Amino acid sequence: MAIVDNIHPIFDRLISREDREKRLGQKSKVLWLTGLSGSGKSTIAQALERKMYNEGFFAQVLDGDNIRTGIGQNLTFSLEDRRENVRRIAEVAKLYMNSGIITLNSFISPTKDIRAFARDIVGSDDFIEIYVNAPVEVCEERDVKGLYKKARAGEIKGFTGIDSPYEAPENPAIEIKTNETTVDEAVDIIFEFVKEHCAL
Ligand code: ADX
Repeated sequence: MAIVDNIHPIFDRLISREDREKRLGQKSKVLWLTGLSGSGKSTIAQALERKMYNEGFFAQVLDGDNIRTGIGQNLTFSLEDRRENVRRIAEVAKLYMNSGIITLNSFISPTKDIRAFARDIVGSDDFIEIYVNAPVEVCEERDVKGLYKKARAGEIKGFTGIDSPYEAPENPAIEIKTNETTVDEAVDIIFEFVKEHCAL
């Protein structure tokens, strides 16, 4: 429910998404990478962004660790705040999408409810769920940022996969098993999807 009344959105008077897509020569989508910390979301998103750039697509990575220093900086890792984090990102992604730009959203987005919320905001046709799947033991073994160690030591509370839930997507558009797939292979798989669905 809106807190503020008397606002007069002017969406209908702005240049349309379709016109902007034409200008950029692509159809915009929101590619939403979900998975545990350390599963490989950011690595794949960055490599994919580069590949898309080289191949003439306009894409922008939105990444958990970056966003949480900016528009998400007042949020904790409670499930309620994660939901709010994801709501903000989904709204930002939608703004990009309406500008014709494809976003690569890399957020744990741990529950089905949270991802359904993001899908609702973006719109089902444009929300592409990509499950970056690595078993928690593999992520813990990698422990790129040393956070699993801290979580095990009780220095971080509510860490996803340790003492906060992660619910795997049931029907993702794409699933990448990062302990069986190289980064280049993962990028190729997603890029095939991009060519099919985002090329004009
Ligand atoms: S989300 O759950 O709200 O989608 P987001 O993707 O923005 O999470 O942030 C995840 C990143 O924050 C992790 O990759 C990790 O670096 C860091 N982080 C810090 N505390 C936690 C925590 N309690 N659980 C998960 N990630 C955490």
